Amino acid sequence: MERIDFSLALKFIKNPAKLTLAVVQDKQNKYNLITLEWFMRTSIKPPMFAISIGHSRYSYECLQNKRYFNLCFPSREMKNTVVISGTESGRDIDKLSRSEEDWIPGRLKGFPVFKAAVANFECKVITQVRSGDHTVYIGEVKYSWVNQDKEMLLFKDLGL
Ligand SMILES: Cc1cc2nc3c(=O)[nH]c(=O)nc-3n(C[C@H](O)[C@H](O)[C@H](O)COP(=O)(O)O)c2cc1C
Repeated sequence: MERIDFSLALKFIKNPAKLTLAVVQDKQNKYNLITLEWFMRTSIKPPMFAISIGHSRYSYECLQNKRYFNLCFPSREMKNTVVISGTESGRDIDKLSRSEEDWIPGRLKGFPVFKAAVANFECKVITQVRSGDHTVYIGEVKYSWVNQDKEMLLFKDLGL
């Protein structure tokens, strides 16, 4: 065991890691996608997920205004969408249109539920906690969707 800088230590715990895509909505009702590595389950009953969003992200502005998100677990065929959603900002482009993903409106607020995803969870924000330069939003899962024949896209598949 050796003591090293935090930034170097992170490289040792990065993989294997799951990835998610959150769908949020801006003030003009445009949907925005953001790739997220920082998420977790936080409650069994009711089911809840937490997502951590940087304050510089357009998605942060969206979540401060519209208190819903869909948490999508992307399949391998959604790799391009995950890369676009993690490198471009909704301030500059419409990531949902650019992605060309097929989707259906969810049952909670009509937010996109991706047909090619492994799973989609429609969440309502219950509370939030500021954490340094990010805010953690905790959402209660209202509806769940799965695709049993899809394989999960992992962080290592991105080749970043
Ligand atoms: C693999 C990967 C994981 C990421 N994880 C997070 C995350 O957990 N939280 C976050 O705020 N940004 C994360 N990002 C960065 C955002 O996805 C990225 O800044 C995005 O362009 C923000 O879009 P927006 O401005 O439309 O909100 C991640 C990016 C990548 C490529």
